[in-house]
Amino acid sequence: MRKVVLIGTGAVGTAYAYSLINQGFITDLVLIDMNEEKARGEAMDLIHGMAFASSNIDVKHGTYEECSNADIVCVTAGANQKPGETRLELVEKNAKIMQSITQKVVENGFDGIFLIASNPVDILTHVCQKESGFEPSRVIGSGTTLDTARFKVLLGEYLELDPRNVHAVIIGEHGDSELPVWSQASIGTENLDKVLKRRNNPSDAENLEQIFINVKNAAYEIINRKGVTNFGIGMSLSRITKAILNDENSILPVSCLLDNKYEQHDIYMSVPAVVNREGIKEVIELELLDKEKSLFQQSAEALKEARKNIFK
Ligand code: 2OP
Repeated sequence: MRKVVLIGTGAVGTAYAYSLINQGFITDLVLIDMNEEKARGEAMDLIHGMAFASSNIDVKHGTYEECSNADIVCVTAGANQKPGETRLELVEKNAKIMQSITQKVVENGFDGIFLIASNPVDILTHVCQKESGFEPSRVIGSGTTLDTARFKVLLGEYLELDPRNVHAVIIGEHGDSELPVWSQASIGTENLDKVLKRRNNPSDAENLEQIFINVKNAAYEIINRKGVTNFGIGMSLSRITKAILNDENSILPVSCLLDNKYEQHDIYMSVPAVVNREGIKEVIELELLDKEKSLFQQSAEALKEARKNIFK
């Protein structure tokens, strides 16, 4: 059995559920929402798709008791950004929601891996870890997996290459203070700088900077147009879920606890980490340039400032 319990059946949760049932690597999916009828309706709708699915998945709505034998509990519940609102501005209301959800999950005997998507994801993942008392390796935030996907897609478009051949990562806060690790970016097996030198296009530097700005602002741009972001994050969550349940040892930029890594202590931020059936197997410490280190430190400061009323 490979069982996922999803808490929060809004736009993000349902995109995740839809992505999961289309990929066929789980056996059980339970939907929980404050609005029980909404969870019931979403489950009914997804079940009808089983006529076309590659494998049979037991999809239903349920209660927190379902967490007792779940492998993963994914939390997408909470308020989302209004147009122009930052992720960090959601912290106070969503921290309370995360605390209460975590308590209910743990009270019901959950002993698997938490996967958190609610924003601000770095701080809320830490809230979940503290509240649950779980080892940090079993409490993971979606972090910059999505920003990194956006980065790969936009760089791939610019270079006219498959985004899967773009090896580049966004680290730090999943939000306004995140940063790209240009120094370690590679295309295929070649360092990005080498590829750019060969292209010899004088506008590359400016265009690449704009690509990063577009990545950072992507959620604002989408929210202005459709009110939410959901498909990108839904697919990012199912990618992380697959890495866990298939014991993949995949390197993904997820939000994890940094303790004596990247000169940080007791803070959740995104960096590349090895993800497998145990959760975070290893936090990878990249050799950053001084200017990247300083941006990473600024990102940590922004998160600490935002969480100061939460963690006293
Ligand atoms: C996103 O980046 C809003 O955090 C969400 O799409």
